[in-house]
Amino acid sequence: MYKGAILAPMVRIGTLPTRLLCLEEGADLVYTEEIIDHRLMDCRKFEHKNGLVEFKLTAEDNPVLQTCAKEKEKVILQLGTADPNRAVKAAKLCQDHISGVDVNMGCPKAYSTKGGMGAAMLKTPDLAESILKALVQELDIPVTCKIRCLKTLEETVEFAKRMEKTGIAALAIHGRQKTERSRADPCRSLWIAEVAKSLKIPVLANGGSGEIKSRSDIDEFQEKTGTAGVLVARAAMWNPSVFNKDGPRHVFEVVKRYCKLCLEYDFALEVMKYNVLSMLRDLQDKDPRGLATKPALSSKEIAECWGVVQEDKDGPNPKKKKLDCESVDREESYPYVHNHFKKLKQWEGIFNVLV
Ligand SMILES: Cc1cc2nc3c(=O)[nH]c(=O)nc-3n(C[C@H](O)[C@H](O)[C@H](O)COP(=O)(O)O)c2cc1C
Repeated sequence: MYKGAILAPMVRIGTLPTRLLCLEEGADLVYTEEIIDHRLMDCRKFEHKNGLVEFKLTAEDNPVLQTCAKEKEKVILQLGTADPNRAVKAAKLCQDHISGVDVNMGCPKAYSTKGGMGAAMLKTPDLAESILKALVQELDIPVTCKIRCLKTLEETVEFAKRMEKTGIAALAIHGRQKTERSRADPCRSLWIAEVAKSLKIPVLANGGSGEIKSRSDIDEFQEKTGTAGVLVARAAMWNPSVFNKDGPRHVFEVVKRYCKLCLEYDFALEVMKYNVLSMLRDLQDKDPRGLATKPALSSKEIAECWGVVQEDKDGPNPKKKKLDCESVDREESYPYVHNHFKKLKQWEGIFNVLV
């Protein structure tokens, strides 16, 4: 299962419509965005008639995790955690709807490391081990972790070997240290290769998006690092069809398909907009549809900018009929406080960070 070209975990990007789109385009596996155990463990499950499964605190709340049967065999839930009990509780809640659970041990951001999560875990191997062991023991599905490079290659290999001994099914490694940044610092491909050589379980290479524009570039990165597979983050954020074996499709075509999937799953406006603008990159200020996307006030409006209309099988308000449990109109529940989303006063505040 842990092989080939895989959508890497990405906050806001790795949400249901993007994951489905990447699978349609040929991704072998898809990771969710990182979801903090606290947020997930007290959620309830809401199953809808159209196959959508949502985990949220109450019927009125925004979902913490959305998934569906179409991706069940291919989706890995990534957890942000610093506690074995919380991790197990959160993972058990969803394990019937996913294929595996991954623990984030690579996030360098303060919101993760302050709580002992993400890359902070590289300094607390005992805790990291106890979380993985608890998950391996308690869950019926495979467990993995995603790490970064430590200070030296030797320390990195040693850490990876310790994690391997917990019984995990695979290990992903981002070829950069905690202080190194994807845009500025090169990926340490040789370190990844050394970790891959030292472990018996499949190792997944990550950090190569700077050089990835197509499926053959993904395969090349995999070969260069001698790994079982590649986690692709930014290259898939810019164009999810990077996974396509026939070559990537034009981003406008991909945006249209993305809009269709968002309407199908009643996806939240804010994250949809973030994803569309992430795909458009500088075209968001050049293409009239990009310019129209920015001020759009509903998911339907964004889709209309791209000539995508909601299939109106159920009459004028299919959204209300499609769901078999109560749902709020998310277009009115602004702002959408989603996982790491902060309350922002203006749209501009969200989207300026993209470019
Ligand atoms: C928008 C964005 C969100 C990210 N969110 C996560 C996350 O939730 N969990 C995680 O482990 N890494 C996260 N990352 C890091 C990526 O998974 C990946 O390690 C990094 O971008 C390097 O891979 P790349 O060269 O393919 O982009 C994120 C990266 C980006 C660009």
